Amino acid sequence: MSVLPVRRVVIGQSAHLALSALIAAQRPDLELRAAVYTDVTAEDLAWADAYVGFRRPPLPTMGNVRWVQCTGAGVDSWLQQPELPRDIVLTRTPESFGPMIAEWALSRALAFVTKIPELAAAQREHRWAPLEIGMLRGTHAVVVGTGDIGSHVGRLFAALGCRVTGVSRTGRGDAEIFSAVHTPDALAELAATANWLILTVPLTPETEGLVGEAVLRVCRGAVLLNAGRGAVVQESLLPRAMTEGWLSGAALDVFEVEPLPAASPLWDDPRVMISPHVSGLTTLEGAANGFLECLSIFERGEVPKWVVDRERGY
Ligand code: OXD
Repeated sequence: MSVLPVRRVVIGQSAHLALSALIAAQRPDLELRAAVYTDVTAEDLAWADAYVGFRRPPLPTMGNVRWVQCTGAGVDSWLQQPELPRDIVLTRTPESFGPMIAEWALSRALAFVTKIPELAAAQREHRWAPLEIGMLRGTHAVVVGTGDIGSHVGRLFAALGCRVTGVSRTGRGDAEIFSAVHTPDALAELAATANWLILTVPLTPETEGLVGEAVLRVCRGAVLLNAGRGAVVQESLLPRAMTEGWLSGAALDVFEVEPLPAASPLWDDPRVMISPHVSGLTTLEGAANGFLECLSIFERGEVPKWVVDRERGY
């Protein structure tokens, strides 16, 4: 795996100028070009050794780029057809999105259990509405994905007294956080006892459509929280899942199609909390330091642990 030498880098990430300035301050030896990814040209990619960004520029080839550093949590946009050629090394950013996504999930669960949307609606109408408020304590959270993101989510829910069960490809997870960890074949059984079904997994051939009718149908009023990828869930089934009472609500940060089309029934459903893919944001420092960390590992002649396994898909 040889990405070296890396001297010329194209930054095709939002806030490209600020990111470029941060990288340049630490590595003045690098030559940098920066643009919104859709404005990156074929000439830029022919010039470059490496590319930093969340999405692939809409060009037929990656020119002379030998290394792509993805700045987002999920690398699926690089693996969709046309897949980034396999002779180009793809790395994930070392930035940890777990703390932010965990707060996103916890805030949604607390909003559901303490009925914040209903109380806000009553307040707008000057209506005194003593609703029955619940607690997270004593509920059961099933967290799909036990990596960095799922572990942070699990830790916060456990801290508030939830029983937290993990689901992962390998059946492994931190025993200090998860009271048990199962493989995905146990998902339907677990969903039947979940109050919170929390998705933190990347989109891979194994996770696509994982939460389909077989899983939704056995839920007994769980709330679905999705901060992974929209296509992990069969999104078109969600209105029915709520009407049938399989789910009592959903907090969705990711969708099969983004931006969520204006005609989607999810927008108007009072049981759904929508956020526009903001649960775990890339920071400038995280993107800059993550790139520089991977670069220095390559320069030491080693392979960063963030190199994407193309078979696994993350
Ligand atoms: C993601 C991101 O991968 O926003 O979802 O970084």
